[in-house]
Amino acid sequence: MYAAVVTSFDAPPRYEHVPTPRPGGPDQMLVDVLAAGLHPRVRSQADGSHYTSTAELPLVPGIDGVGRGPDGLLRYFVLPDTAVGAMAQRTVIDARRSIVLPDSSDPVAVAAAMNPAMSCWLALRQRIRFEPGQRVLVLGATGNAGRLAVQIARLLGAGAVLAAGRDAGRLAALPALGATATVPLGGGSDLAALGRAAAEVDVVLDYLWGEPAAAVMAAVVTDRADRSRPLTWIQIGSVAGPTAAIPSAALRAARLDILGSGQGSIGNRDILAELPALADRIATGALAADARAVPLAEVERAWAEAARTTERVVLVPSA
Ligand SMILES: NC(=O)c1ccc[n+]([C@@H]2O[C@H](COP(=O)([O-])OP(=O)(O)OC[C@H]3O[C@@H](n4cnc5c(N)ncnc54)[C@H](OP(=O)(O)O)[C@@H]3O)[C@@H](O)[C@H]2O)c1
Repeated sequence: MYAAVVTSFDAPPRYEHVPTPRPGGPDQMLVDVLAAGLHPRVRSQADGSHYTSTAELPLVPGIDGVGRGPDGLLRYFVLPDTAVGAMAQRTVIDARRSIVLPDSSDPVAVAAAMNPAMSCWLALRQRIRFEPGQRVLVLGATGNAGRLAVQIARLLGAGAVLAAGRDAGRLAALPALGATATVPLGGGSDLAALGRAAAEVDVVLDYLWGEPAAAVMAAVVTDRADRSRPLTWIQIGSVAGPTAAIPSAALRAARLDILGSGQGSIGNRDILAELPALADRIATGALAADARAVPLAEVERAWAEAARTTERVVLVPSA
C-alpha cells in the first residue's frame, strides 16, 4: 500500500510504498482510510516536536481519521501514539477507540472537524464543571479550533462569548458563529484593552499561551471588579509560545485557577465517551470546520498548502 512517510524530521512526508500493517489483537481491525486531517498536532508529530514524540523513524503520521472496516461500517477512529498512522491507504485501528458514523456522513468534514472541535468540547465537558450562562473568552479565536470553540461554547450554554484574534477578516465572521463580541489581538495596548474587555469572564479557552496569555491574564486580574469571583483559565494550545511568564501576583490577587486540557490530562475512556455526541453535531452540520481535501499522493503539496491556508487540509487516499 501507499502512505505518507516521514524519513527525516526536517522534511515533509513523501508518498511511498510501505508494507500493509496487520491487526495484532482481538479488537484491532484493518480499515481503508477515507480521510485523515492534517492538524497542528500531526504537523508536530511529523517534525518530531510534539511532547509525545519519540525519535522513531520512518513514521507514517496521522492521529485520527475516518475509515471503513471489514464489517462495512464507516468509523471515526483515534489512534494511539504510533509510527503507523492514519495518513495511509490502510491503517490498523482499535475498534474500542472508534465510533460508528451514519453512512451518510461526509468523511472529509468529520476528519477536518473532530480534532479542533474536541479541544473545546473536552475542556468544557471534562476539565471543568461548566455552567450555562457563564461568560467565556476564546483567546485565539480565528484558527479552526478557536472558531469551533466559539460555536461549542454557545452550544453548551455560554451566556456570552468574547472572541479575540489577530486576523481582522476572520474575526469579523465570528458573530455569525455565536460570538457576542470580538476584540482584535495585536501587541501592547491591544492586550491591555482585551484584558479590560474580558475582566468579567468566568472561563478562558486559551489557544495562544506565550506572551499574550501572560499579558491578558495580568490585565484581566487587574480589572476584575470582584477578584474573589472564580476565573478558570484553560490552557489548550500554544501557537504564540510554549512558555508564558505568569506574574505570581495574578495567582494571589484573584481567584484564578490555571489548568490544561489535552492528551494526557483526560483519560482515554472519558475522551471516547464524548466522541459520539460531538461526531453527531459534526455529521449533522451543527458544527463545521472549513475543510480542503487533498489527495494523499500529493502529501508534499498538502504540507506546503496547510502552512498557507486557514482551511483544515484533509488527506484523501482514494482521490
Ligand atoms: N489541547 C487539545 O486538546 C487541542 C486539540 C486541538 C488543537 N489544539 C491546539 O490548538 C491550537 C490551535 O489549533 P488549530 O487547529 O486551531 O490550528 P489552526 O487552524 O492552524 O489555527 C491556528 C491559528 O493561530 C493563530 N496564531 C498563530 N500564531 C499566533 C500568535 N503568535 N498570536 C496569535 N494568534 C496566532 C492564527 O490565526 P491568525 O492568523 O488570525 O492570528 C492561526 O489561524 C494548536 O496549538 C493546537 O495544537 C489543542
